[in-house]
Amino acid sequence: MSMIHIFDTTLRDGEQSPGASITPEDKVRIALQLEKLGVDIIEPGFPASSPGDFRAVQEISRRVRAAEICGFARAVRSDIDAAVKATEEAARRRLHLFISSSQIHMDFQLRKTREEVLRIAREMVAYGKQFVHEIEFSPMDASRSGEDFLYEMVEAVIAEGATVINLPDTVGYALPEEYGAMFTRVRSNVRGGDSVRWSAHCHNDLGLAVANSLAAIQAGATQVEVTVNGIGERAGNCSLEELVMAVETRKNTLLAETAIEKSEIYRTSQMVSRTMHLPVAYNKPVVGRNAFQHEAGIHQDGLLKNRSTYEIMDPEQLGVPRDMIVLGKHSGRHAIKHRVSQFGVELTEEQLDDVFKRFKQFADDRKIVTDDELAVLVGKAVDQAIVPFEFVDMQMMTAAASGSRVAAVTLRNTADGAVQTFTAAGQGPIEAAIIAMKQAMPVPVEFEHLELHSMASGEAAYCEAAVHVRARGCGYRGSAIDDDVIVAAAKAYLAAANEAVRSGASRAAAVSASSAVSEPKRDA
Ligand code: KIV
Ligand code: ZN
Repeated sequence: MSMIHIFDTTLRDGEQSPGASITPEDKVRIALQLEKLGVDIIEPGFPASSPGDFRAVQEISRRVRAAEICGFARAVRSDIDAAVKATEEAARRRLHLFISSSQIHMDFQLRKTREEVLRIAREMVAYGKQFVHEIEFSPMDASRSGEDFLYEMVEAVIAEGATVINLPDTVGYALPEEYGAMFTRVRSNVRGGDSVRWSAHCHNDLGLAVANSLAAIQAGATQVEVTVNGIGERAGNCSLEELVMAVETRKNTLLAETAIEKSEIYRTSQMVSRTMHLPVAYNKPVVGRNAFQHEAGIHQDGLLKNRSTYEIMDPEQLGVPRDMIVLGKHSGRHAIKHRVSQFGVELTEEQLDDVFKRFKQFADDRKIVTDDELAVLVGKAVDQAIVPFEFVDMQMMTAAASGSRVAAVTLRNTADGAVQTFTAAGQGPIEAAIIAMKQAMPVPVEFEHLELHSMASGEAAYCEAAVHVRARGCGYRGSAIDDDVIVAAAKAYLAAANEAVRSGASRAAAVSASSAVSEPKRDA
């Protein structure tokens, strides 16, 4: 059996999902959960990209002890200095350098010749090696690169001290057979190939990221780069939970295993989904809400006789709550706390008191309380975190002559406690509510996209809204659950706008507080 190292890049490549950027504090919380999940390496961000990311990588390096921390950098001195500095206090660390190796990237993006790119790769690996022993090198767009040049570049960086070679399928173009064959050829054609670890990094543009990563494992890769829920640029990256469960379920064929703590998979998925406001698709393998639901009578019949007739994984081993654990008005605090922790939310005692009180009121006239209903109650208790604007009330009217909608949205500014009502007209009620709220924002917050999910539970159905906005050139997401679709959409817009306003303020504070990156220190 070969042990496959799980390299988690949820907080770097995953955070590149449109609008999914999160605060440094949330990154630390997710990194601590990834440590519990048992990932081998965490790439928590791109330290040179912003003071917030630098701070997040620094804090995660201090707090996470079991996983290795990876500082990500372009093959540029200032990026390397920032990554080396940010990871200084890690128990174990590595530096991840990349530069493109495909002709199309060199011609149009880098605008450099092969010789120049090769020289930069060599020099920057040598520069990083002065400070950090473990150096991972990625020839970006490897799967579309000319193989002779790829061999030359990989051989050169190994000679300069690279210890891990990652061959990315940056644009998700490769087919499994091709991707596996590339590993076989590069490994056997470069000098020093036996002395390094080989890593797969696949994007999911053709839905092949997991298949390609498995092909790389079969061709000798012993590290796979993944994200929780498969989030990431465009169609995302190789999904951690799918890859891990494919290896686990088919380990006798793949002759491979991972050290992932399976019982933490669902909790981690929920935490990432809720923190980044990226809902998990219902039919998502392993963690989607339908992944273990059986609808057809013939399947249900088989399951009742023996679960393995139609289930190849045991959801309980993944921490997925089975519907049979029913919450109702007789459920105690402990049961509520346990179920909420399965959503990836750890409540303080005060929040638990609040959720429990709401739960008891809600459960009083119902037989059972579903997970979705509990999530609404948790949202109400937890969302009391300080945000720039709080939603107070909303009224909607229809103008008799034009038929357009007029919204009056009342918000509280938490800085001074002032409550103000903003009114606006729109073609539809959501448009009217958003135009009204825009007036409250200190910066223009443009609405870009709305997703609505039904969280059906009979007639008392809830709706989950996720909104993507843009402010100062950056994207932000917010989500909300309500039994009124318009209110859910309005609250989701407000959550995203709050994120934009808050991040603008913290960015300004970070820029004025951050000192220039000082001299990087070398590993002892
Ligand atoms: O997709 C990619 O090529 C990457 C590398 C920079 C590792 O994310
Ligand atoms: Zn990538």
